[in-house]
Amino acid sequence: MNRKEILQFTEDFVRSYMADKEAGHNWWHIKRVRDTARYIRKQEQKGDLFVIELAALLHDIGDDKIDPDTNGNKLVRSFLRQEGVEDEIIHSVTEIMAKISFRDNLHGEYSRTPELDIVQDADRLDAIGAIGIARAFAYGGSKGNEIYKPGKGPREYKNKNEYHNSDSSTINHFYEKLLLLKDRMNTDTGKQLAHERHRYMEEFLQQFFKEWNGEEL
Ligand code: ADP
Ligand code: NI
Repeated sequence: MNRKEILQFTEDFVRSYMADKEAGHNWWHIKRVRDTARYIRKQEQKGDLFVIELAALLHDIGDDKIDPDTNGNKLVRSFLRQEGVEDEIIHSVTEIMAKISFRDNLHGEYSRTPELDIVQDADRLDAIGAIGIARAFAYGGSKGNEIYKPGKGPREYKNKNEYHNSDSSTINHFYEKLLLLKDRMNTDTGKQLAHERHRYMEEFLQQFFKEWNGEEL
């Protein structure tokens, strides 16, 4: 199989895998991350396009938030091996999957590659701006979380489990994570894109509290 065919097969595989997942983490999230990652690579002129596309397509397979029972690394390795992808590329893709998550960053620094930098920026960009707002409320809603709980301020998490099991409101999630992403972008292109999306979220929060507090009444 050539690379184009492998990407098409991977896309079909991911589409069917994502079919029953929550609205913020479905095929459209994957498609946006792939498109954004391609754009960043074009601007930055670095990173292997094949690895970037595979990693963008596969990055949420087995994510503990949407599918805790699947070992994503194992599933992706056996899928790519079946497609005849070389071991070196499979390794690069599974490395990106392991390192892309915001939560894992709570444990400090690790070695980086241009491909990881790009796919991580694309994934993070999809968590901010208008799309990020929509996804946060979709995800929070799917967990039964409140939109906002007055008096419950944002908090810091000591570890992955604590963050994962938090029942904090979705508005808190902006302060705990979404507003921090702008300063965590890896590439210049990612930083540029994050700027406007960040501004838009701040404007949204300003308006949200204006309405919540009855300031326009
Ligand atoms: P990552 O997979 O990069 O570690 P997450 O899985 O935490 O990041 O987030 C993926 C998406 O789910 C983002 O759009 C994020 O805003 C949303 N999300 C995660 N946790 C929450 C939460 N507690 N409330 C609302 N949205 C959330
Ligand atoms: Ni993702």
